[in-house]
Amino acid sequence: MSDASLLREKGYSHNVVHEFDRRNLVRGFVLKGGKPTLLLIAEENLGSPESLLDLPVLESLLGSSSITYEDGVVDGLSLVSQSKVEQVILDESVFDRECIYLKTAGRNSAVELNPEDLRKVLADLGFDSESDRPKLIPYDFGYAAAGEMTRHRVISGIQPSGDMTLGNYLGAIINWKKQIEQYDENFFFLADLHSLTVLPDPADLRDRIRQTVMTLVACGLDLDKAVLFRQSDLGGYHAQLGWIFSCLTPEGRLEQMTQFKDKSQKQQVVGTGLKTYPILMAADIALYQATLVPVGDDQRQHLELCREIVRRFNHRYGYAMPVPKADIPKVLARVKSLTDGIKKMSKSDENRDGCVYLLDSPDEISRKMKRAKTDSDPTLRFDEENRPEVTNLLSMFKVLSGRDSEPDAAIEAHFEGKGAGGLKKN
Ligand code: TYM
Repeated sequence: MSDASLLREKGYSHNVVHEFDRRNLVRGFVLKGGKPTLLLIAEENLGSPESLLDLPVLESLLGSSSITYEDGVVDGLSLVSQSKVEQVILDESVFDRECIYLKTAGRNSAVELNPEDLRKVLADLGFDSESDRPKLIPYDFGYAAAGEMTRHRVISGIQPSGDMTLGNYLGAIINWKKQIEQYDENFFFLADLHSLTVLPDPADLRDRIRQTVMTLVACGLDLDKAVLFRQSDLGGYHAQLGWIFSCLTPEGRLEQMTQFKDKSQKQQVVGTGLKTYPILMAADIALYQATLVPVGDDQRQHLELCREIVRRFNHRYGYAMPVPKADIPKVLARVKSLTDGIKKMSKSDENRDGCVYLLDSPDEISRKMKRAKTDSDPTLRFDEENRPEVTNLLSMFKVLSGRDSEPDAAIEAHFEGKGAGGLKKN
């Protein structure tokens, strides 16, 4: 029986295709050792099959360095159905994509499948990570996993290019602090090489680096538990990997970046660095084999590109680095300007009334808050689309008062009858 007919029998939708995008390929290996194991792993995490032995999960499972493998999921899934496989290790990163291909053994074709269906098929065949003795072991390849716990190496950066804002704090720093408490390996850095894209005055940049370090410490970043460094102190390594990555990045992808489009419109002569900026970012992350990157929503696209580049690198040169995940806050991923609910609050905004700076005095903050734009409707409601300014202020209250896990309705009820004036006082 082939996998395609197994899927047909189980009623899962799929197509058999002859041309497929290898980047979406999931390879299957039947590992004979200890317990017969089926390993399903995304192509970019593969490297050479032997390199799988470097993965801690396999060493502990097989307890020996000898693996024999058979390429081809047809054999894999059908072996599962014949109960010849006792456990399945499933690479979680396959769920990052909309469609996957399972290569069919011996033939130049693949089964095109929705990744969630693969999970369902396995559960249907009796492999279920929810049961007491899980036979399905979800695993983040490249991330060290032990049972349910996933360990992460965290990295993130901030440009020392202006006064730090409440947007930096709520969109990123607050999460950096959370990660420090949760994970053992935390790296944060001052992205001074990135700041060169705006051609700063050197003395000014030096001052800002110092000021940013002091502000981060004042925000409560615990430097006993995290490393804080200046990107340019290891600039050679960042730049070198950046160069290798630039050879793997189609130029067109850089032109699609919203930040590049916005920023380049404001400059008369567009420096090449502004365009290649996300490549250096990708190098900042991959150089340290980091797995988790706490950032605000404005960096989402850059992180997506970083993941693509890392996949391409692993695919071309063999597995060397994990595909990192962005960690973006659920509430206030994008803090908006106080004067314009469409614009993000940004260090580089010329209108200083739109931003709360972390070094503003309390009087200054309350003055800016009082003048913050709202609308004529006195009832306060979360409504991102139609009432962005009110939603921004309500969300700030929600996070800063530590009530971010409460439903929006509880916050709305708190301000019942108090109007925008009441909200601004808080
Ligand atoms: P930067 O300096 O613009 O911002 C630092 C962090 O603050 C977040 N942020 C916001 N979040 C929500 N709302 C806002 N209004 C807001 N403004 C800023 C940013 O998302 C960011 O997380 N390219 C990066 C620096 C960098 C980097 C990296 C980050 C360089 N290399 C590698 C992560 C990993 C930047 O310009 O951040």
